[in-house]
Amino acid sequence: MKYLIALCLIVVSAYAQAPKPCDSPAQWEAREIRQDYSRKFAEYRKLSYDETNKRVREVEEIIIGNDKEYYDRLYLHNENKNYSLNLKTRKCEVTALTRPFRYRGVYPQAKFDGIFNIGAVGVSGEVVAVQAWSANITGGFFYTGLVTYPSCYPVQNIYFSKEYGFEHSDYFDLNIGIVDLNVFVPPQECMQAEKKMQQKNISPIV
Ligand SMILES: *[C@@H]1O[C@H](CO)[C@@H](O)[C@H](O)[C@H]1NC(C)=O
Ligand SMILES: *[C@@H]1O[C@H](CO)[C@@H](O)[C@H](O)[C@H]1NC(C)=O
Repeated sequence: MKYLIALCLIVVSAYAQAPKPCDSPAQWEAREIRQDYSRKFAEYRKLSYDETNKRVREVEEIIIGNDKEYYDRLYLHNENKNYSLNLKTRKCEVTALTRPFRYRGVYPQAKFDGIFNIGAVGVSGEVVAVQAWSANITGGFFYTGLVTYPSCYPVQNIYFSKEYGFEHSDYFDLNIGIVDLNVFVPPQECMQAEKKMQQKNISPIV
Protein backbone atom coordinates (compact mmCIF):
# COMPACT_ATOMS: atom_id res chain seq x y z
CA MET A 1 0.00 0.00 0.00
CA LYS A 2 2.81 2.38 0.95
CA TYR A 3 4.51 1.59 -2.35
CA LEU A 4 1.32 2.30 -4.21
CA ILE A 5 0.94 5.70 -2.52
CA ALA A 6 4.57 6.51 -3.25
CA LEU A 7 4.08 5.51 -6.87
CA CYS A 8 0.93 7.62 -7.11
CA LEU A 9 2.80 10.63 -5.70
CA ILE A 10 5.56 10.20 -8.26
CA VAL A 11 3.02 10.01 -11.07
CA VAL A 12 1.17 13.09 -9.75
CA SER A 13 4.37 15.10 -9.44
CA ALA A 14 5.44 14.07 -12.93
CA TYR A 15 2.10 15.41 -14.21
CA ALA A 16 2.48 18.57 -12.12
CA GLN A 17 5.90 19.17 -13.68
CA ALA A 18 4.69 18.73 -17.23
CA PRO A 19 1.23 20.16 -17.82
CA LYS A 20 -0.41 19.48 -21.16
CA PRO A 21 -0.54 22.45 -23.55
CA CYS A 22 -3.48 24.63 -22.53
CA ASP A 23 -6.09 25.69 -25.10
CA SER A 24 -5.63 29.26 -26.24
CA PRO A 25 -8.74 30.92 -27.67
CA ALA A 26 -9.11 30.10 -31.37
CA GLN A 27 -10.33 33.53 -32.43
CA TRP A 28 -9.14 36.86 -31.11
CA GLU A 29 -8.03 40.36 -31.99
CA ALA A 30 -5.22 42.37 -30.47
CA ARG A 31 -2.59 45.00 -31.07
CA GLU A 32 0.73 43.46 -31.92
CA ILE A 33 4.26 44.80 -31.71
CA ARG A 34 6.32 42.71 -34.03
CA GLN A 35 10.11 42.87 -33.98
CA ASP A 36 12.36 41.25 -36.49
CA TYR A 37 15.93 41.42 -35.21
CA SER A 38 17.66 40.13 -38.32
CA ARG A 39 15.91 42.55 -40.66
CA LYS A 40 16.05 45.30 -38.01
CA PHE A 41 12.48 46.46 -37.93
CA ALA A 42 9.57 46.83 -35.53
CA GLU A 43 5.95 47.10 -36.63
CA TYR A 44 2.76 48.05 -34.83
CA ARG A 45 -0.18 46.11 -36.18
CA LYS A 46 -3.83 45.47 -35.58
CA LEU A 47 -4.17 41.71 -35.69
CA SER A 48 -7.21 39.49 -36.28
CA TYR A 49 -6.44 35.82 -35.72
CA ASP A 50 -8.64 32.84 -36.62
CA GLU A 51 -6.99 29.52 -35.85
CA THR A 52 -10.09 27.48 -36.73
CA ASN A 53 -10.11 28.64 -40.35
CA LYS A 54 -6.38 29.37 -40.51
CA ARG A 55 -6.65 33.01 -41.53
CA VAL A 56 -4.93 36.14 -40.30
CA ARG A 57 -5.31 39.86 -41.02
CA GLU A 58 -2.53 42.25 -40.08
CA VAL A 59 -3.02 45.97 -40.60
CA GLU A 60 0.05 48.04 -39.92
CA GLU A 61 -0.60 51.20 -37.96
CA ILE A 62 0.66 54.32 -39.61
CA ILE A 63 2.84 56.61 -37.59
CA ILE A 64 2.32 60.15 -38.89
CA GLY A 65 5.49 61.71 -40.25
CA ASN A 66 7.18 58.42 -41.02
CA ASP A 67 7.55 57.68 -44.71
CA LYS A 68 8.20 53.95 -44.58
CA GLU A 69 5.87 51.64 -46.52
CA TYR A 70 2.84 50.31 -44.66
CA TYR A 71 0.92 47.16 -45.44
CA ASP A 72 -2.45 45.63 -44.90
CA ARG A 73 -1.95 41.86 -45.12
CA LEU A 74 -4.42 39.02 -45.32
CA TYR A 75 -3.31 35.38 -45.18
CA LEU A 76 -5.92 32.75 -46.08
CA HIS A 77 -4.11 29.48 -45.45
CA ASN A 78 -6.98 27.19 -46.45
CA GLU A 79 -6.94 28.84 -49.90
CA ASN A 80 -3.17 29.34 -49.95
CA LYS A 81 -3.60 33.05 -50.70
CA ASN A 82 -1.45 35.94 -49.54
CA TYR A 83 -2.92 39.42 -50.14
CA SER A 84 -0.56 42.27 -49.50
CA LEU A 85 -1.92 45.80 -49.94
CA ASN A 86 0.50 48.71 -49.83
CA LEU A 87 -1.40 51.35 -47.84
CA LYS A 88 0.44 54.27 -49.47
CA THR A 89 0.20 53.28 -53.13
CA ARG A 90 -3.00 51.14 -52.70
CA LYS A 91 -1.35 48.51 -54.91
CA CYS A 92 -2.17 44.93 -53.98
CA GLU A 93 -0.04 41.86 -54.61
CA VAL A 94 -1.70 38.46 -54.62
CA THR A 95 0.61 35.46 -54.25
CA ALA A 96 0.71 31.98 -52.80
CA LEU A 97 1.77 31.71 -49.16
CA THR A 98 5.41 30.90 -48.61
CA ARG A 99 5.09 29.37 -45.17
CA PRO A 100 2.70 27.28 -43.11
CA PHE A 101 0.18 28.70 -40.64
CA ARG A 102 1.75 29.96 -37.41
CA TYR A 103 0.10 29.28 -34.10
CA ARG A 104 0.10 32.34 -31.88
CA GLY A 105 -1.42 30.65 -28.85
CA VAL A 106 0.23 27.58 -27.34
CA TYR A 107 1.67 25.45 -30.12
CA PRO A 108 0.18 21.93 -30.31
CA GLN A 109 2.57 19.46 -28.60
CA ALA A 110 4.53 22.29 -26.98
CA LYS A 111 6.71 21.50 -23.98
CA PHE A 112 6.01 23.24 -20.67
CA ASP A 113 8.93 25.42 -19.55
CA GLY A 114 7.57 27.01 -16.38
CA ILE A 115 5.22 29.47 -14.76
CA PHE A 116 6.04 32.93 -13.41
CA ASN A 117 4.55 36.32 -12.68
CA ILE A 118 4.64 39.51 -14.73
CA GLY A 119 4.23 42.72 -12.73
CA ALA A 120 4.55 43.27 -9.02
CA VAL A 121 4.20 40.09 -6.98
CA GLY A 122 1.93 40.51 -3.96
CA VAL A 123 0.31 43.74 -5.16
CA SER A 124 -3.33 43.07 -5.87
CA GLY A 125 -4.35 43.84 -9.46
CA GLU A 126 -0.72 44.43 -10.54
CA VAL A 127 0.31 40.88 -11.32
CA VAL A 128 -0.44 38.31 -14.02
CA ALA A 129 0.68 34.68 -13.93
CA VAL A 130 2.08 33.42 -17.24
CA GLN A 131 3.14 30.01 -18.51
CA ALA A 132 6.09 29.54 -20.84
CA TRP A 133 5.99 26.92 -23.63
CA SER A 134 8.32 25.88 -26.41
CA ALA A 135 8.40 23.53 -29.38
CA ASN A 136 10.55 22.46 -32.29
CA ILE A 137 8.53 22.69 -35.46
CA THR A 138 9.17 20.83 -38.70
CA GLY A 139 10.91 23.06 -41.19
CA GLY A 140 13.61 24.17 -38.76
CA PHE A 141 11.57 26.54 -36.57
CA PHE A 142 11.87 26.90 -32.84
CA TYR A 143 8.89 28.42 -31.04
CA THR A 144 8.51 29.91 -27.56
CA GLY A 145 5.27 31.34 -26.24
CA LEU A 146 3.97 33.03 -23.12
CA VAL A 147 0.29 32.78 -22.21
CA THR A 148 -1.68 33.99 -19.20
CA TYR A 149 -2.52 31.42 -16.55
CA PRO A 150 -5.07 29.87 -16.18
CA SER A 151 -6.97 31.15 -19.25
CA CYS A 152 -4.17 30.64 -21.82
CA TYR A 153 -4.42 34.02 -23.57
CA PRO A 154 -1.40 34.88 -25.78
CA VAL A 155 1.08 37.39 -24.37
CA GLN A 156 4.19 36.80 -26.48
CA ASN A 157 5.59 34.54 -29.22
CA ILE A 158 9.08 34.19 -30.57
CA TYR A 159 9.78 32.14 -33.66
CA PHE A 160 13.37 31.42 -34.52
CA SER A 161 14.74 29.87 -37.71
CA LYS A 162 18.01 29.98 -39.62
CA GLU A 163 16.19 31.46 -42.60
CA TYR A 164 14.27 34.27 -40.84
CA GLY A 165 16.19 34.76 -37.58
CA PHE A 166 14.20 35.91 -34.52
CA GLU A 167 10.63 37.08 -35.05
CA HIS A 168 9.20 38.42 -31.85
CA SER A 169 5.54 39.36 -31.25
CA ASP A 170 4.00 40.94 -28.14
CA TYR A 171 0.22 41.18 -27.84
CA PHE A 172 -1.75 43.93 -26.10
CA ASP A 173 -5.40 44.87 -25.61
CA LEU A 174 -6.51 41.39 -26.62
CA ASN A 175 -10.21 40.72 -27.16
CA ILE A 176 -11.71 37.28 -27.58
CA GLY A 177 -13.66 36.75 -30.82
CA ILE A 178 -13.71 38.62 -34.13
CA VAL A 179 -15.84 41.79 -34.10
CA ASP A 180 -16.46 41.83 -37.88
CA LEU A 181 -15.83 38.69 -39.93
CA ASN A 182 -15.51 40.87 -43.06
CA VAL A 183 -11.98 41.47 -41.84
CA PHE A 184 -11.17 38.19 -43.68
CA VAL A 185 -12.59 39.43 -46.99
CA PRO A 186 -9.80 40.79 -49.23
CA PRO A 187 -9.74 44.58 -49.70
CA GLN A 188 -11.32 45.93 -52.92
CA GLU A 189 -7.92 46.62 -54.55
CA CYS A 190 -6.88 43.00 -53.92
CA MET A 191 -10.08 41.58 -55.40
CA GLN A 192 -9.52 43.70 -58.52
CA ALA A 193 -5.89 42.58 -58.75
CA GLU A 194 -6.99 38.96 -58.41
CA LYS A 195 -9.71 39.38 -61.06
CA LYS A 196 -7.16 40.83 -63.50
CA MET A 197 -4.87 37.85 -62.87
CA GLN A 198 -7.72 35.43 -63.52
CA GLN A 199 -8.66 37.23 -66.74
CA LYS A 200 -5.08 37.00 -67.92
CA ASN A 201 -5.10 33.44 -66.67
CA ILE A 202 -2.14 33.98 -64.38
CA SER A 203 -2.21 31.62 -61.50
CA PRO A 204 -1.56 33.28 -58.14
CA ILE A 205 1.13 30.68 -57.49
CA VAL A 206 4.43 32.51 -57.87
C1 LIG B 1 3.16 37.64 -48.82
O1 LIG B 1 3.44 38.47 -49.93
C2 LIG B 1 4.31 39.56 -49.66
C3 LIG B 1 4.38 40.48 -50.87
O2 LIG B 1 4.53 39.76 -52.07
C4 LIG B 1 5.67 38.99 -49.25
O3 LIG B 1 6.57 40.04 -48.94
C5 LIG B 1 5.49 38.10 -48.02
O4 LIG B 1 6.71 37.50 -47.65
C6 LIG B 1 4.44 37.03 -48.26
N1 LIG B 1 4.18 36.36 -46.99
C7 LIG B 1 3.93 35.05 -46.88
C8 LIG B 1 3.71 34.54 -45.49
O5 LIG B 1 3.84 34.28 -47.82
C1 LIG C 1 14.51 21.34 -29.79
O1 LIG C 1 15.69 20.78 -30.36
C2 LIG C 1 16.89 21.15 -29.68
C3 LIG C 1 18.07 20.64 -30.50
O2 LIG C 1 17.81 19.38 -31.05
C4 LIG C 1 16.85 20.59 -28.25
O3 LIG C 1 18.02 20.97 -27.55
C5 LIG C 1 15.63 21.18 -27.53
O4 LIG C 1 15.49 20.63 -26.23
C6 LIG C 1 14.35 20.89 -28.32
N1 LIG C 1 13.26 21.64 -27.69
C7 LIG C 1 11.99 21.18 -27.59
C8 LIG C 1 11.03 22.07 -26.94
O5 LIG C 1 11.65 20.07 -28.03
